[in-house]
Amino acid sequence: MSVAGKHILLIISGGIAAYKAITLIRLIQKGGGTVQAILTEGARHFVSPLTISTLCGRPALSELFDLTREAQIGHIELSRSADLVVVAPATANILARMANGLADDLATTCLLATITPVLAAPAMNVRMWEAPATRRNIETLRRDGIGFVGPDEGDMACGEYGAGRMAEPEGILGAIEDHFARGAGPRPLAGKTIIVTSGPTREPIDPVRYVSNASSGRQGTAIAEALARQGAHVRFITGPAEFAAPQGCDIIPVQTAVEMEAAVKAALPAHAAIFTAAVADWRVAHPANAKLKKDAAATAPDLEFTANPDILAGVAQLPQGERPELVIGFAAETGNLETHARNKLARKGCDWLLANDVSPGSGVFGGTDTRILFLDGEKVSDWGPQTKREVADRLVQHLANHFAGGA
Ligand code: C5P
Repeated sequence: MSVAGKHILLIISGGIAAYKAITLIRLIQKGGGTVQAILTEGARHFVSPLTISTLCGRPALSELFDLTREAQIGHIELSRSADLVVVAPATANILARMANGLADDLATTCLLATITPVLAAPAMNVRMWEAPATRRNIETLRRDGIGFVGPDEGDMACGEYGAGRMAEPEGILGAIEDHFARGAGPRPLAGKTIIVTSGPTREPIDPVRYVSNASSGRQGTAIAEALARQGAHVRFITGPAEFAAPQGCDIIPVQTAVEMEAAVKAALPAHAAIFTAAVADWRVAHPANAKLKKDAAATAPDLEFTANPDILAGVAQLPQGERPELVIGFAAETGNLETHARNKLARKGCDWLLANDVSPGSGVFGGTDTRILFLDGEKVSDWGPQTKREVADRLVQHLANHFAGGA
């Protein structure tokens, strides 16, 4: 489904990412859609209303008390005539105003008055994104049914690194297209909070060296995105991975298994938890505070290892009331898949287990394709060769069936 024939009300708020709104407008128009823009007072410092008006082929609006326009098309009409309202960039400030129902300018008045779905693309400094007040506001807005795309993790204009960078215009267009493809019906996982762990963990030896593995995070990212598309509120806890920025999810980056365990505990309660991370089984017991130096004889250091917590088993064995209704694990094996998978399901105490064969030459670790043996209690089914995205969609369909009472 494309944006052809769709009319988008684009609210541009005042952040450095406002310049990307120009590309977004062009992409929507290239796809056959039309755009009416509203600029907040702050946005006018970052992009010129004239540029936006010229691009959109209609005046970019800012003033709430513009009598000529109110006489022609009032703010209520403005907010309702669109097929979708997109806030990009959505600063911490406009999100706070939206979460609290403020209507102190044209942008927030339209947002409060609208009965049209709203999609927001947050953009802010990483500390602002992680601030408890922003967390609360995002939570409130999700509950109110606001959709989110991004933010991404990366270098920021302020020189810091982290989550808070606005999704790229192509990603925002993708989320807009997804919205129209889904139609107006309720999404099956709306109102469900789901934790996903993903990627490898990185266990330090000293400040510059670590023990890790080759997990790309591809499967976890595909699952998180598929869950978000079905309306779930996803808490994505990821080690340092190549694929670590699923659209529309809360992204919680961690390094070590111990940090991942703490992040999972902090993300509870949840309706379901899916453990795709390739957690290191051991960590160096006493990482050095300074870089280990080679001595004259270049003797190898004697590293002592200690076991990492089993995060999945810990959550699966939580008392009722604290335990998510569904706890789902993965198993990567190199032979005897079914036997190992059955044992693992029982030993860990999870509800479902997805096992795959990662023998050398299978290309599963880090690759796009896999073959899942799915264990649901006593039942075992072979899903056959599939892409990791297809696995994600099938798993998410199972979850949706479960929560609808059908599985
Ligand atoms: O025991 P094994 O590592 O094979 O188990 C794999 C499953 O357990 C995966 O779902 C993985 O994410 C999870 N796991 C975990 N914490 C660990 C080890 C594995 O959550 N320390």
